[in-house]
Amino acid sequence: MSRQTEYPIHPQFTARWSPRALSGEAIEPAVLMSFFEAARWAPSASNVQPWRFVYGLKGTPGFEAIFASLVDFNKGWAKNASALVAVISAKTWLPHGTSEALPFVTHAFDAGTAWGHLALQAHAAGWVTHAMGGFDADVLRQGLAVPEDFHLNCVVAIGKQGDKSQLPEALQAREQPSPRKPLAEIVAEGRFSF
Ligand SMILES: Cc1cc2nc3c(=O)[nH]c(=O)nc-3n(C[C@H](O)[C@H](O)[C@H](O)COP(=O)(O)O)c2cc1C
Repeated sequence: MSRQTEYPIHPQFTARWSPRALSGEAIEPAVLMSFFEAARWAPSASNVQPWRFVYGLKGTPGFEAIFASLVDFNKGWAKNASALVAVISAKTWLPHGTSEALPFVTHAFDAGTAWGHLALQAHAAGWVTHAMGGFDADVLRQGLAVPEDFHLNCVVAIGKQGDKSQLPEALQAREQPSPRKPLAEIVAEGRFSF
């Protein structure tokens, strides 16, 4: 499938994609930490850094706790991830010099930026990432003991790309980089004209 750009950009943006065929091999904790290191340098409103990451390495109880929250469709392929990561964000913050927690409206936006950093760093290091919105938030919250004032945004599977013959036929056909809407459908000058 075509990943032709309309303007020249750094090739990392079109080279990254989200495979489901994963090898299941172990990931060195230091390698995984380098992905969080990249996420940590994302910008956020007032530099609050609302993102939190809880990870589980394959074969550990932490992995099982995150895996248990996935919908069956995602369980089918994410079982071969090297690590699963819950991307969590703080819904409130304490502005400087105050003691009353206020809503932090950009928590999900900021956590999304951090996940983007993580995905690109993983790709640069030869690993693949695949975000999943298909999870049960109550199961994940309970399994990881996440307090109510934190939002569960997403689960991310991290691994090495595997052989697509391991996937069911329907998923094998989707195991390729996807296209994007043209810029004209997502960018407008001066007025919302979509
Ligand atoms: C927030 C979010 C939730 C997603 N949820 C799922 C999911 O539950 N299962 C799945 O297989 N893919 C999921 N995806 C992967 C998207 O379908 C994929 O990123 C999108 O089609 C673009 O393809 P690419 O990442 O290969 O460029 C999710 C992606 C994001 C960012």
